[in-house]
Order: sequence, then structure tokens, then C-alpha cells
Amino acid sequence: MSTERRLRLPGLAYGGDYNPEQWPEEVWAEDMRLMREAGVTMVSVGIFSWALLEPKEGAYDFSRMDKILGLLHDNGIAADLATPTAAPPAWFFKAYPEALPVDRDGRRLSYGSRQTFCPSSPAYRTAALRMAGALAERYADHPAVVMWHVHNEYGCHNAACYCDTSAAAFRSWLRAKYADSLDALNQAWGTTFWSQWYYDWDEILPPRVTGADSNPTHQLDWRRFCNDELLSLYVAERDVLRRAAPAVPATTNFMVNFSIEALDYWRWAPELDIVSNDHYLRADDPASEVDVALCGDLVRSMAGGPWLLMEHSTGAVNWQSVNRAKDPGEMRRNALAHVAHGADGIAYFQWRAAKAGSEQWHSAMLPHAGTDSQIWQDVVRLGADLRALAEVRGSTVAADVAIVWDWNARWALELPSQPSSALRFVDLVRSWYEPLWRAGVAVDFVLPDADLSSYRLVLAPSLYLIDDTGAANLTSFAEQGGTLAVGFHSGAVDENCHVRLGGYPGAFRDALGVRTDELFPLLPGETRPLTGQVPEGADATLWSERVRLTDAVAIASYADGPLAGVPAVTRNAHGTGTAWYLSTHPDPATLAALLDRVRDEAGVRPVLATRPDGVEAVRRRGPDADYLFLIDHSGNGTEVPAHGLELLTGKPVHGSVTVPAGGVAVVREER
Ligand code: GAL
Repeated sequence: MSTERRLRLPGLAYGGDYNPEQWPEEVWAEDMRLMREAGVTMVSVGIFSWALLEPKEGAYDFSRMDKILGLLHDNGIAADLATPTAAPPAWFFKAYPEALPVDRDGRRLSYGSRQTFCPSSPAYRTAALRMAGALAERYADHPAVVMWHVHNEYGCHNAACYCDTSAAAFRSWLRAKYADSLDALNQAWGTTFWSQWYYDWDEILPPRVTGADSNPTHQLDWRRFCNDELLSLYVAERDVLRRAAPAVPATTNFMVNFSIEALDYWRWAPELDIVSNDHYLRADDPASEVDVALCGDLVRSMAGGPWLLMEHSTGAVNWQSVNRAKDPGEMRRNALAHVAHGADGIAYFQWRAAKAGSEQWHSAMLPHAGTDSQIWQDVVRLGADLRALAEVRGSTVAADVAIVWDWNARWALELPSQPSSALRFVDLVRSWYEPLWRAGVAVDFVLPDADLSSYRLVLAPSLYLIDDTGAANLTSFAEQGGTLAVGFHSGAVDENCHVRLGGYPGAFRDALGVRTDELFPLLPGETRPLTGQVPEGADATLWSERVRLTDAVAIASYADGPLAGVPAVTRNAHGTGTAWYLSTHPDPATLAALLDRVRDEAGVRPVLATRPDGVEAVRRRGPDADYLFLIDHSGNGTEVPAHGLELLTGKPVHGSVTVPAGGVAVVREER
């Protein structure tokens, strides 16, 4: 986060997306009154207002926005003012139909929704920057404006466009990447395969639909290009805003738990003054509290400290097949868990539930039912909670464990040409994260080439693609005394997706002291028993390998099948440290037992020495005090040993604190 451009707001921010343009002006006064009642301190405005702000090309109407910002200011509510560029108006597409995106199948999409534009379109870029510039010029010095909300969720609906303009932009990007050398590109992409050699830059297309799989490196470079196109749009808008208002911080809302098309947010975070994220629960997630924690830790790691939760929901969303309401107390637990994992502000989509439009069935802070509702009571209570936690602002989490998270590895793992199509990066990482979360162990996320010197333990659950620098960094961490644990099918390919020859797991072979000569992915539902230093009934799932020991010792082996007697889990003394290899995906209990042992040997302690099951424990560290967050997900409630002041109730804690059933306690611990 930038040191110069900070959010000029006291305490923890509280609010949501505010779309008053969807309501008659009479409603706005009530909005202000109720925002004050709920303790709202900041709202995001104008996110999808382009059509109203610029009714005709180059002609602006700021009258409505003037009133809205004035009203907010009069009521002591700050504005996170959005550039409305995620939703170009219909007039724009009528004038510039070539700015509509084309999908992989070659279909040109239509307007009438949002984020339906080609990221490489010059017409779009010109119009977006002009709009952002007009907004910045008008409101740079407005006293309500404390932050710029650039665009909205870049790439949410248009992460890739396959039109001819995008193709030309892709070629320019490739020429820059390969220093104008087609030969370098042909080598990197391995185009001697299937007669794919390129003799002219103009022959290169986006990876449009083909009869059989297209080239993996081509697809990977395409992902990188798409990321960079959107990032360059963000940077261009940010610079326009910065020129007009040098002191106002800029953010754009990430979606770190998004699908394969996800952006490489490690590359985005340094461009933001304040990192923010949107997080939504999935109805089919049996333990969504784990996802909340994981995403919080990931965003905090990318931000290098506190961040803002820009959007989540008070209840049901509207975009899953069945949109589940939250359980009693779940909304409060979600919000305070985000705070526990480093959020310095909590916001929702959206303030007032819409009456019309395709999000009319999405929950909000003020539901259709009005204030006589459970959600409204919860919203008011959360406002009070956040006020009580004001002093937590700026504190962060210290972790001894780092998990490697690399979007390049993720993109590459999920390309279609893998030994198994069942591998999902996020699922693999989460399966390793979850036992640590259950044990109350603090975790950071890192890139493979990060400075690892402050960690005792580094986990690489899934690192299919790794470049030489990253591999050397991770293995030297072990060599110099750290503990490294690596998951199967890691180290397999280099940054160009070329297999590392000589045996798997390629880049990690020497450090791990093993050499695999053949992969044996398992079929869906197929398991293989494991034997050795693992719990009774331990099973291998998803994957297995014919591992041979070069230096390592076997901790567990495959008990039957084609790999009977072959090591499955290994441990190697590497330099002055230790390197573990899990050549399979053990069942959850076995994985938890193995990771318990790995972290125990690495000397990593949980946040609390003894902790009741089902209670999440996270500690934020401030300059003078620590803040122990205890969140009961079991529904039972309990007593937890602690000393200090419980901030939500204001009661002193001598020896133990009560965590109410389904509730939260936050103890300020003096140092
Ligand atoms: C987000 C988006 C919001 C709203 C929300 C609904 O992806 O930024 O504008 O659509 O989803 O859950």
C-alpha cells in the first residue's frame, strides 16, 4: 500500500455500494437517516452510472452526482467515488459496435448488460479515459471523496475477447515479450509440434476454438496478455485520476476466489494505493468460513498489510443456481472474520435492495422488507461492532507459515492437456490450508520468488509451473534451514510450460531427494491405501506416482495396486533444512495428520496452545497491543483462555473469555 495515499477515515470503514440513481430523490433522505442509524461511514457511488453521467458522447450531466455527494457530505458519510467504466452506455456501442467483445466461438456479443466490451478496443479506452477525466476534474477536491473506485471487478464478465482488434493487440504484446523474434516465440511455444510453426506475426491468432486442443504455451501467454490488457486499462484510469487529485488513493475491487479466468492479482496489487477485495460465499461450499479466511489471508498478503472488503452479501446472492440465505449470525461472523484476517473496512453489495433490474433478488443492507427485518437488525449491530473495533485498524497478522500461490501455476495446471483433468489449483491449496486453519495457525501467501526469511515453514501444495528463480528460491529456503513441503505434480514445467526432463518433480527433484519416472493419476473416486507413518485407513486419492528415493526416506508408501511398496510421502534432509514430498492427495484426515507433523517439526505454533474445536482464532498485531479474534463456527460457544479487554462487550477478561454460540469475541491483549 502506498504510504502517501491513505484512506482519510477514522476506525474501520463501514458501508456498501450505493446506487441512489435507481431510486426517486425522496428516498435519498431516508437513505441518509438509515445510514447514520447503521453507522455507515463510506459508500461506493457511481459504479454503473455512465449512461446517466454522460447522456451523449462528450456531454456530461453531473447534477445528480453533485446532489448525491453533497448529501453524503452533509451527513458525514464519505464517498468512494467510482469511475463508471464497467458499464458503457448503449449510445457508445451504437457508435462503436466494433468495441463489443467476441467470444472464443467467434460470436460477437450484444450490449444491454454490463462489462460487455473488448478490453483492447481503442474506442473503449478513449471513452473510458475521457469519462474518468471528466469525473476527476469535477470532483477532485470534493470534500466527500476519500477514494477512487476504479471501474468494477476488472474482467468479471470480459476477461478475454477474441476479436481481430484483440488479436492485433496480442501480437504486439507477443512482439514485446519475445523482443520481436518469431524464432524465440516458436521455441517458447514448441511450435514444431503439429505443424504450428509461425513464419509471420500476422499468422498468430488468439486461442480461438480449434478442432483439437490448442498449444498450451499459446494459451498461457494468452492468459498473461488478457491480464495485462485489463491491468493497463486500470493503470491508465488511475493515472488520469491521480493527475487531477494527487492525494486521493485509488483502488479497484479484486475477486481473488474467482474462476480460472482470474487475473494475476500479484501484479495488480502494487499498482493500487489501497487493495480491496470482493468475497461471496458459494452455496455448495460445506465450510465457507474456510474460504473467507483463505481469501482474507491471500488479500492481506498481496496488500502487504490491511485491506478493504469492498463487497460481500448480507444474505443471498442472485447468481447461483439456488441462492441460499445466510444462517443466523453468519453475516456477522463473515464480516468479523474478514476483519480478523486483515480487513480495515467492511462493505456490502449493496446498500438498498433493488426493485428492478437483474439484481432485484440480491440481498442488501436495507432489504425489500425494510427496517423491520432481521438483516437490518444485523446491519445495525455490525455497525456498532465495527465502532467498538476501531482501534484494530492498521494492525496486521504475523505468520510463520507461507503458502505459495502463483496464478501462472494455476492457469497452467488447468489447461486442457494434463495427465488428469481433475486437478483444481484452488481446491488443492485449500485442502492444505484447511488443516492449518482448523489448527489455528496463521498463514501468509507468497509468490515463489518472495523473501522467505521470516518463515519457518513454506508449503507448495500445487506448483505445476515454476521458473528457475522461483525453484531456486524455494529449495534454498530448505537448504538454509527452513522446512519446505511440496505437493504432487509440482516443479513439472518451466515458465513456457516445457516439461523439465530427467524425472519428476523436475525442479524440486534434488531438494526433495526423490525421482519419479512415471505418473499414475487415479480415476474419479478411485483410492489406494497408504501404509507407514499415517493414520489407520489412510488413502491416496486423485494422483499417484512411481517415486524412487535418491536421498529421501519414505514416511508412507502405497499399499497395493501397481505401485505397491512405492514411497508416497517422503522426507529429505536438505542442507540444514527439510524437504517433504506428497506424491499423492491423501484423504483429508491423513493430510491433516501429515501437515500437523510437518509444522510441529518445523516449530510452528498455533495462535492458541489449546483451542476448542470449531472456534477460529486469529491474532492481529498492533503497535502497542494484540487483538485476538475468536469466532465460533460450531454453534456451541465456549470459554477460551485469555487476558485483556473484550472489545465487543467492553468487559475485562481475567483468565478466560466467553465466545457465545455462533458468536465472536475480540480481546485486546496488552503487550
Ligand atoms: C459483484 C459485482 C456487484 C454485484 C455483485 C452481486 O460481482 O461487483 O456489482 O453484481 O457481484 O453479488
